[in-house]
Amino acid sequence: MKLYIGGFTIILLLLITLILIGCTKSGMKSATNVAQTKTDSNQLSYVLPAPLVKGSISVEEALSKRRSHRHFQDKEISMENLSQILWACYGITSPRSGNQSMRGGLRTAPSAGALYPLEIYVLVGKVKGIEPGVYKYISKEHKIIKYINKDIRKELSAAAYNQEMISKAPAVLFYSAIFSRSTEKYGNRGRDRYVCMDLGHSAQNVYLQVEALHMGTCAIGAFVDSSVKNVMQLNADEEPLYIMPVGYYFNKPEI
Ligand SMILES: Cc1cc2nc3c(=O)[nH]c(=O)nc-3n(C[C@H](O)[C@H](O)[C@H](O)COP(=O)(O)O)c2cc1C
Repeated sequence: MKLYIGGFTIILLLLITLILIGCTKSGMKSATNVAQTKTDSNQLSYVLPAPLVKGSISVEEALSKRRSHRHFQDKEISMENLSQILWACYGITSPRSGNQSMRGGLRTAPSAGALYPLEIYVLVGKVKGIEPGVYKYISKEHKIIKYINKDIRKELSAAAYNQEMISKAPAVLFYSAIFSRSTEKYGNRGRDRYVCMDLGHSAQNVYLQVEALHMGTCAIGAFVDSSVKNVMQLNADEEPLYIMPVGYYFNKPEI
């Protein structure tokens, strides 16, 4: 009888273990499937991993270490790190579904009138689990949607006076602005001041976030507007503002 119960228990434990292994595997598979989907218009999109709100270094430490880095290692970055950087850049921290002009809610960066005139793109070269190409960041759903089905880092670098860091970095953030979102309420003050002030807040978030991830970036404002607009296939109402390559830098002093 004892032997019978013992044998039965072992078989039961084996069965439970097999079921648990099966569940874990299918769970892993479905997590990958959830991350990568197609939109209604058949564009590839990735729902990004949830960002972390606690890190290993303090704001003070990130501020004291922040530097512009222009030389990046040919090293892949993780989807988690890209997710974290995009969230720091323009992620939603307080959803407001009822307010149309906010397009999702209050964010990591302040914005005059909470009008959020910036559009964020990411040129993916080497990000684990994400197909190369250009994606648009959709703050509201913390996801990226394929926008150009090609790796155009070299073309963008050429449009920015051949600043090589753009073609070498594994991922490149790109900012444009739809000025009318701000000028409709604030007129010239929106155009001359607020949009670029908003940009500065968001870009500094990126600087500090990459520092906290032991990565680097450089804000790039020197480029030929018309060429960049062309390469990035921007809509007529969108103006290019900043290019921010991100990646692991070489441990050598930057000038
Ligand atoms: C508006 C703006 C535009 C910039 N454009 C470029 C650029 O086109 N190329 C570049 O290498 N650095 C660019 N930078 C980075 C500055 O050169 C850098 O911030 C400055 O040298 C100070 O160094 P730090 O950021 O390491 O403190 C830009 C910075 C700002 C704020």
